[in-house]
Amino acid sequence: MRTYLVTGGAGFIGSNYIHYMFKKYGDDIRIINVDALTYAGNLENLKDIENRPNYTFVKANICDKEAIAKIFAENDIDRVVHFAAESHVDRSIKNPEVFVQTNVLGTAVMLNCAKASWELPDGSFKEGKKFLHVSTDEVYGSLPDDENAFFYETTPYDPHSPYSASKASSDMLVKAYMDTYKFPANITNCSNNYGPYQFPEKLIPLIINNALQGKKLPVYGDGKNVRDWLYVEDHAKAIDMVQEKGKLFETYNIGGHNEKQNIEIINIILETLQEMLPDSDPRKAHINQDLITYVEDRKGHDRRYAIAPDKIKRDLGWEPETYFKEGIKKTICWFFEHEDWMKNVTSGDYQKYYEDMYSNR
Ligand code: NAD
Ligand code: TYD
Repeated sequence: MRTYLVTGGAGFIGSNYIHYMFKKYGDDIRIINVDALTYAGNLENLKDIENRPNYTFVKANICDKEAIAKIFAENDIDRVVHFAAESHVDRSIKNPEVFVQTNVLGTAVMLNCAKASWELPDGSFKEGKKFLHVSTDEVYGSLPDDENAFFYETTPYDPHSPYSASKASSDMLVKAYMDTYKFPANITNCSNNYGPYQFPEKLIPLIINNALQGKKLPVYGDGKNVRDWLYVEDHAKAIDMVQEKGKLFETYNIGGHNEKQNIEIINIILETLQEMLPDSDPRKAHINQDLITYVEDRKGHDRRYAIAPDKIKRDLGWEPETYFKEGIKKTICWFFEHEDWMKNVTSGDYQKYYEDMYSNR
């Protein structure tokens, strides 16, 4: 039975990936999820699978060398899927240091421990071992407002935010391990994800949550920044395909082929909420464009991201499958069915974050 070590599995993409993997492979795999449970990690995301005999949760920080080495010593890990990171650009602008700690130093610890466990005396690696480093398209910087410009795997790195700089640094470390030691790894760089379990500091869940509560919908700058939205389950499938069929040492860009301006996203969410809420729901009356509020722009705000996922389509046969209209309906439906989840994650620390982040905007 193959054993996966997933880092950051209690977060948004990691928990969706774990669900996807158990749905696909059932009892044929074992997953060990290592997560420090920061504000972004939530074991509620994995409640339905926590009692599976082939699932184990370990609360540990990826910067903790001893804790990570112990997991490798006690288990024959076949695959590492490395999601754990500080992931929010706005937070990185306020407090860059923890991004360097987790994203750079934490990745170095993961690489070192995997290398120590997998390396043979002659410097080669045990058969079948693989490390997948999950990264972002933000490492490539910002594209102009030109619909023919895309990020490719060959696009030079040009990160701007402390978040993307820390992810770029972690990618470079993985590349260095591949080049220096022939360490068996792949890197994936994907576009903005959306879907169930996304923490409401990110645009889509924040807008859904605020609209349902009749709160202002904060639009940074002119609202015309473009992101390329990818449904999270399509991303989980791509990650699995890269592990199954990807060529070692290669990078694959994963994108939704779904570029939209932020203001378009907000309008689609408002329309979809109007369509989905029954007339009897009192919230329906206040959900309209009057909630849209233009606020001060993000510092160094990247203008446009757009991935050309040509390589992964050509080499592995992966394509995004979920149209945005369908994906946003599924996402809103999930939030309707998980109001308690939203209440829990938005109480306490999140309230304070929200006040700090938006009080001057
Ligand atoms: P997230 O913030 O929702 O989850 C991150 C998880 O990592 C949380 O469970 C958190 O508790 C855990 N974590 C944080 N620091 C840790 C540490 N020091 N040790 C152990 N665990 C720690 O993030 P996400 O949106 O699920 O993103 C997952 C990965 O995908 C990240 O590497 C991110 O850079 C990348 N990515 C995300 C997006 C996106 O749109 N969300 C897009 C491209 C790439
Ligand atoms: P975000 O979800 O933070 O993802 P990223 O910055 O990694 O792309 O933001 C997506 C876009 O939405 C980005 O252009 C910033 C913008 N945005 C707003 O306009 N208002 C908000 O309240 C947030 C959180 C983001």
